[in-house]
Amino acid sequence: MGQDRTTTKRHPIGVFDSGVGGLTVVRALRAALPGEDIIYLGDTARVPYGNKSPRTVERYSLTCQQFLLDRGVKLVLIACNTASANALPALTAASPVPVIGAVEPGATSALAATRNGHVGVIGTLGTIRSGAYATVIRSRNPAATLSALACPLLVPLAEEGWIDDDVAVLVARRYLTQLFAQDPELDTLVLGCTHYPLLKDVITRVATELAGKPISVVDSASAMADAARDAVGSDANRRNGPGRLDCFATDTSRLDELAPRFLGEPLTGFELVDL
Ligand code: DGL
Repeated sequence: MGQDRTTTKRHPIGVFDSGVGGLTVVRALRAALPGEDIIYLGDTARVPYGNKSPRTVERYSLTCQQFLLDRGVKLVLIACNTASANALPALTAASPVPVIGAVEPGATSALAATRNGHVGVIGTLGTIRSGAYATVIRSRNPAATLSALACPLLVPLAEEGWIDDDVAVLVARRYLTQLFAQDPELDTLVLGCTHYPLLKDVITRVATELAGKPISVVDSASAMADAARDAVGSDANRRNGPGRLDCFATDTSRLDELAPRFLGEPLTGFELVDL
């Protein structure tokens, strides 16, 4: 990767999302590659991507990626399932450095976890409508059965911090009942949205109750971090001490409140940028 390995090591890894949900991926990335500098961009002025057309998501995603490339990143992580599902080919074609999306790692984790090949995926409208998870899962295991459901109310629930109360349980139960009606044999569920890891406990509880057996619930965050470690390989920054995290956003309202919830630790602040 890169031409000059000594400088490449010191280049940051770029991560972008439509908003702050992608900080769940940054959290996993910092655990997997603690010495790396990370540049995070949240396109908070244009969030949500989940209900926009594929063309719009692609257009927005290309501007986000360019922002990161202009800052010399050695790798791009698309920490947004909607952008990954709708814009990965365009982003890969436009980037001189490797690009990792969320769908492939999430699908790989699901196939590793399932015992009977019955996998469910939940995500935004844009992710589910793209059929991206079905494409990857069927190409890897043609015998697998995939059920998919858009769950648009889960993003605002996670942002509101209503992640472990009666409302979260009711909403999760209503959605997951529909998913299990598609395939009562599901044994694995992919959280195909950056926001959903915050609701993992509730989703796991409700899914297990509906299935009447333990359900494996997987998300793409840690699988993406593993893929990033593989992609960086010997170009990893192995400095002593943690790398820098520089955060940028296209709108900064509510970020002080929202961002730490997704990152799991306090955050010094976002710099406002105009794409
Ligand atoms: N980041 C989006 C995703 O993972 C969820 C929020 C949005 O709709 O933009 O699909």
